[in-house]
Amino acid sequence: MVDNAKLFIPIILGTPRKNRESENVARWVFKKMQERDDIDAQFFDVCDFDLPQAHYGTEIVHLFPEWRDAIIKADGLVIVTPEYNHGYPGTLKAVLDLLLKEYIHKAVAFVGVSAGPWGGTRVIEACVPMVRELGLAVTFTDLNFPSVKSKFDANGNLLDDAYEKRVHGFLDELAWMARSLKWGRANVPSKFHT
Ligand SMILES: Cc1cc2nc3c(=O)[nH]c(=O)nc-3n(C[C@H](O)[C@H](O)[C@H](O)COP(=O)(O)O)c2cc1C
Repeated sequence: MVDNAKLFIPIILGTPRKNRESENVARWVFKKMQERDDIDAQFFDVCDFDLPQAHYGTEIVHLFPEWRDAIIKADGLVIVTPEYNHGYPGTLKAVLDLLLKEYIHKAVAFVGVSAGPWGGTRVIEACVPMVRELGLAVTFTDLNFPSVKSKFDANGNLLDDAYEKRVHGFLDELAWMARSLKWGRANVPSKFHT
């Protein structure tokens, strides 16, 4: 039997840049997640991670218990990432690298943000092999925000109605993947989880 309980899906804003445009995007997607009756969402911001300069990785995860506990509990993850020279911000990678086995057989969906016309498609492509190594399963329905500066007003309101339909498709697919994998983790034995 498929478990119809709400899925728990954190969302992470992946850049610490001052005046980042990605924050409007992440806050809007978070609001859309909160409006659904099949998802419980929690917002994370890489700015809130006081990462040490001289240590890295899973050995320091005890410094970030809220993130650790959220990923342990999570059925999926939304990553909002800007495109920086066709790649992802180092801070996002440092936060993701705090954990490893806790991601296995969970779904991840990407929101790409760029100043240019491609909406972060290149950064998402760069992220796919990285999250695959974490054991995450990537959805194929990305959400892209090209020319992001023109997409929001000064109060962070989205100006383009087309995203209402797009975000539903994006979250529907993530929910399907997350629920299927939740069932799999509970019912199909794996050496990676009990
Ligand atoms: C270091 C750096 C590299 C960037 N590289 C690209 C890029 O490769 N392609 C692109 O479309 N925009 C690029 N941008 C612009 C960002 O996509 C733009 O700032 C956008 O608003 C999303 O990033 P933000 O959340 O930091 O504002 C770059 C910005 C920075 C700071």
